[in-house]
Amino acid sequence: MEADKFRNYDNATPRVVEHYLNMRSKQTIAHYDKMAAKYTFDDPNKKMTILEAFHKLESYVDASDPDLEIPNLFHLLQTAEGIRNAGHPEWFQIVGLLHDVGKIMFLWGTDDDGQNGYDHRGQQWSLGGDTFVCGCAIPEQIVFPEFNKLNTDMSNELYNTKYGIYYPHCGLDKLKFSWGHDEYMYRMLVANKALIPDEGLAMIRYHSAYSWHTYNAYEHLCNEKDAVMKEWVKKFNVFDLYTKSSDNKIDVDKVWPYYEALLNKYGLGGQLWW
Ligand SMILES: [Fe+2]
Ligand SMILES: [Fe+2]
Repeated sequence: MEADKFRNYDNATPRVVEHYLNMRSKQTIAHYDKMAAKYTFDDPNKKMTILEAFHKLESYVDASDPDLEIPNLFHLLQTAEGIRNAGHPEWFQIVGLLHDVGKIMFLWGTDDDGQNGYDHRGQQWSLGGDTFVCGCAIPEQIVFPEFNKLNTDMSNELYNTKYGIYYPHCGLDKLKFSWGHDEYMYRMLVANKALIPDEGLAMIRYHSAYSWHTYNAYEHLCNEKDAVMKEWVKKFNVFDLYTKSSDNKIDVDKVWPYYEALLNKYGLGGQLWW
């Protein structure tokens, strides 16, 4: 499969362009802090199983993805099956299965926080899309760099310099990335004490950070561990991108028992905190 067939934004639909315009201008430090305070993983009324979350995501279509017209549910199963068929470890398969489940935040989205869209209507600018670091200059190595200047933090001298509020090689885990399904799902897995190794958690937390893992921006903020994690994130990315196919709809009922056993094994069975 030719690599340049995917992630081509030259002919992006107005929906994709609008998504990135909103995301780039509204994802600020203040927005990150607001979202981090919104999701505390301690509300008993929000508890549900992974399967229940999957069913709620059944009709979710990503507004930021130029390659994906099919519901996210199938994308998750296609990614997991691709990883499984390539002979990768079970924890890696779980990462494939869960990496986009954080889009479930649409359930609790409001009109103004960029999380109230689950299809071609509503806002998804705080659910999906290529992420960037808030609190320092936004790099040119990102989709639609012409939108960078629209970010309100970029006119604040605390936030618009190379290092901004960070220090050299502080490590990716010290950074506040634009808030979306990546950061949320990482936090959800940690909150539920999932038995997924650091490599898998990094895949989930940074898989949309293309400017970092593919275009090498932010090297001045990374530490030695991040260099190792980057290779794992890139390994994952191959499956995230190249298993996308609308004529490969997997039978959920058929494959689910296999994944349910895996989820139980890795501490993700039963009712979880969201
Ligand atoms: Fe994703
Ligand atoms: Fe994905």
